[in-house]
Amino acid sequence: MESSLSLSSQSSSATPLRSLSRSSSTLLTPRSVSFPKRRALASRAVIRSEVKMEDPSVSPRVSSLKPSKTMAITDQATALVQAGVPVIGLAAGEPDFNTPGSISEAGINAIREGHTRYTPNAGTLELRKAICHKLQEENGLTYAPDQILVSNGAKQCIMQAVLAVCSPGDEVIIPAPYWVSYPEMARLADATPVILPTDISDNFLLKPESFASRLNDKSRLLILCSPSNPTGSVYPKKLLEEIADIVRKHPRLLVLSDEIYEHIIYPPAEHTSFASLPGMWERTLTVNGFSKAFAMTGWRLGYLAGPKHFVTACGKIQSQSTSGASSISQKAGLAALNLGYAGGEAVSTMVKAFKERRDFLVKSFRELEGVKISEPKGAFYLFMDFSSYYGAEVEGFGTIKDSESLCRFLLDKGQVALVPGDAFGDDKCIRMSYAASLPTLQEAAKKIREAVALLKPRIPI
Ligand SMILES: Cc1ncc(COP(=O)(O)O)c(C=O)c1O
Repeated sequence: MESSLSLSSQSSSATPLRSLSRSSSTLLTPRSVSFPKRRALASRAVIRSEVKMEDPSVSPRVSSLKPSKTMAITDQATALVQAGVPVIGLAAGEPDFNTPGSISEAGINAIREGHTRYTPNAGTLELRKAICHKLQEENGLTYAPDQILVSNGAKQCIMQAVLAVCSPGDEVIIPAPYWVSYPEMARLADATPVILPTDISDNFLLKPESFASRLNDKSRLLILCSPSNPTGSVYPKKLLEEIADIVRKHPRLLVLSDEIYEHIIYPPAEHTSFASLPGMWERTLTVNGFSKAFAMTGWRLGYLAGPKHFVTACGKIQSQSTSGASSISQKAGLAALNLGYAGGEAVSTMVKAFKERRDFLVKSFRELEGVKISEPKGAFYLFMDFSSYYGAEVEGFGTIKDSESLCRFLLDKGQVALVPGDAFGDDKCIRMSYAASLPTLQEAAKKIREAVALLKPRIPI
């Protein structure tokens, strides 16, 4: 789950209305107002929404959190949709499919059968047993149920893990581009995020030498995400082994392996669980969940697996904050794991569709002058380097100076909502989610091509 937005002209009622309270009078523009005027009013709504007030009574821990960099562009897109502009929303980090029927049925049956009470804090025993079985069968990892903690989404698992293992001043090593929440979670734990940039020419994968050179006695946690949001990169086993060799030399260092996109992977790429590497079980907190592979974002269900003392520590935080995950979602999660190896046919059908879209987009954007792409091997995002266009002047718009202004431009001229790479720690790029139908993506690609035709790459490549 992330703070980016899901938009479509047809589903504007389901659009997050974050900006409404700040500019409701403008956003409630009658449809009778002309299109250009609606667009201008929508833009003005955004300018107003950018005036934010610092509240001095808020805790310094929260004040130190960076506001979401996607906020301004999100507000602009929301305002446009509210004004009736047919924006194609490709910013959302969630599958466009419905939860498979048997999973939903299990949730409905859970209610009918009265599974509507608190569950144990760590999750029901039947679900934790099923997770242990899955980790054994699919990942080669052996855990007992008391080494599993079920939470309200993988996001909660990661936050709790960071809080549980980091002391103030510890360093959390985060390869960039990263999922937006990792650095802020480190800050919430009074730890210091140490961002290690990666390069598109290395498929955005962490170089072992760059990792080794940044380690010191404060280094506490390395966060790996494979398949990656936002790049779609998948860490090959050999590279993970080289990283493990380095981890082995630093006894205080742990690894949080975020494997939430595990099943959304395109052969020949293969997923390797970091904890399965020699000596890494003791050093790894594995996070996974149901949101992405099973199209269950709204059910809020994820889990952490690791050595018991860490899992117990995370459980303590959970017991004093949210308690166990929804009893209904846990029944549904059990049904998801019963779909078979890697989610069975229901998941492979979705993955097949994602792959078809990926193939289309990669081909389509490779043909676009000045754009660099590293073919995603998993997840459902395309992270494209458009920086050769930075510096371009556009009449009536201004200068494209960074990923945010480029996204604003693509929204304004192409009516396609994307996320600036700056939000993920790489300002050269923009992220497109292909959790949308192929015809929608074809239309978006066409609109982006037309908008980009108004620009000339500043640096020809
Ligand atoms: C890399 C990554 N990790 C974790 C999460 C959180 O997932 P959940 O919906 O299970 O909280 C997301 C969601 O966007 C994600 O992209």
